Amino acid sequence: MKASIRILMVVAFTLTAGQAGQAGAADKEPLFVGAKKCRTCHKKELIGNQYGEWEKGAHSEAFEKLKSEDALKVAKEQGIAGAPHEAPECLKCHVTGYGEDAARFSKGKKLKNTDGVQCESCHGPGSLYRKKKVMSDHDKSLAAGMWEPGEDEKICTGCHNDESPTWDAEKGFDYEERKEEIAHAIPEDVKGKYLERSGRPLARTWTTTRTRTTTSRPPLRRVRRRLQDCGAGPVAARGPFRSYASGSCHSTVTRASSIRTSYL
Ligand code: HEC
Ligand code: HEC
Ligand code: HEC
Ligand code: HEC
Repeated sequence: MKASIRILMVVAFTLTAGQAGQAGAADKEPLFVGAKKCRTCHKKELIGNQYGEWEKGAHSEAFEKLKSEDALKVAKEQGIAGAPHEAPECLKCHVTGYGEDAARFSKGKKLKNTDGVQCESCHGPGSLYRKKKVMSDHDKSLAAGMWEPGEDEKICTGCHNDESPTWDAEKGFDYEERKEEIAHAIPEDVKGKYLERSGRPLARTWTTTRTRTTTSRPPLRRVRRRLQDCGAGPVAARGPFRSYASGSCHSTVTRASSIRTSYL
């Protein structure tokens, strides 16, 4: 009895803390954090390595491009005296957040020009949506300031327009076609399921068995050994754990929310 009251209190606390956190986030203005921060999660193969795709593409090279022979020629034609990679007239479309107030950047630190046109030029400043739990929920991500470059052509035409000295009026900007060229999708079978597929939430919140309830998390190594003892076969170092956990030893729990429900 005592134990279940304590668990209820933990659940209640977690819920209120979560809600308070969200209300706070809605009041704040999102700040630029830079592509390196997105890299932590979006360099993973399982999620589709968007960081790697971006790194290979033209946008990450946009600043370096301003140092090319072509750029020097273009700058000269535009009557720009200095180096194009130092000219505000060029930088405004070739890097992320150029000319924005320092207060618009996380910790007041501007992004490095050398990273070119980064994730947040298209997805919006990320300080409020970049948490895994927010990111996994489309509506929450939008509420935290994430943009939808797949739905909103204006995000692209903010730079791809006739103010660009290399603009090709005849070619124009074909939104659907150009989107294809920079595609970096989350694989179909992972989309919307990354948290579950990556297996980590279960390992982190492994708190219940059929015979015993505990509020502490046993070391992953012990979980793995126990599952093996149950005849689950070899257990991978990382998820998906669900296929192993649904054996005879443990109930099927894959997300923190279902574990909480099983307590209540
Ligand atoms: C209004 C935004 C904008 C401005 C301002 C701008 N650029 Fe660009 N630039 C672009 C875009 C968008 C592209 C990609 C063009 C494409 O392939 O559609 C580009 C491409 C380029 C390229 C590569 C062209 C090619 O054909 O591969 C060079 C070189 C370049 N810009 C130089 C400059 C220089 C130098 C300046 C400053 C004088 C400048 N740009 C200012 C948006 C801009
Ligand atoms: C030049 C603009 C641009 C840049 C830069 C960019 N993206 Fe995207 N991103 C898009 C567009 C467009 C889509 C497609 C959205 C759609 O089709 O709904 C997209 C989709 C995505 C998706 C969702 C894919 C899916 O299947 O739903 C992720 C995740 C993503 N981008 C992450 C990143 C990360 C991380 C970076 C930086 C390393 C980045 N993007 C840089 C424009 C961009
Ligand atoms: C902050 C400005 C900016 C935004 C926003 C932006 N781009 Fe770009 N884009 C550029 C620049 C600059 C280049 C040229 C980079 C280079 O050549 O190194 C470029 C290059 C490209 C290229 C490659 C062109 C080539 O010839 O290799 C494609 C495709 C492209 N952009 C599509 C998009 C799409 C689709 C969106 C919107 C979802 C978008 N861009 C948003 C600045 C931008
Ligand atoms: C702590 C990990 C983490 C970080 C950091 C992170 N993301 Fe994500 N992102 C995720 C996860 C998890 C998903 C959801 C994957 C799924 O299950 O579909 C996601 C989804 C997305 C999507 C698709 C969202 C939707 O609802 O369509 C975009 C776009 C995206 N991320 C962009 C970014 C950008 C840009 C940054 C950096 C500013 C970033 N992410 C930082 C983990 C992260």
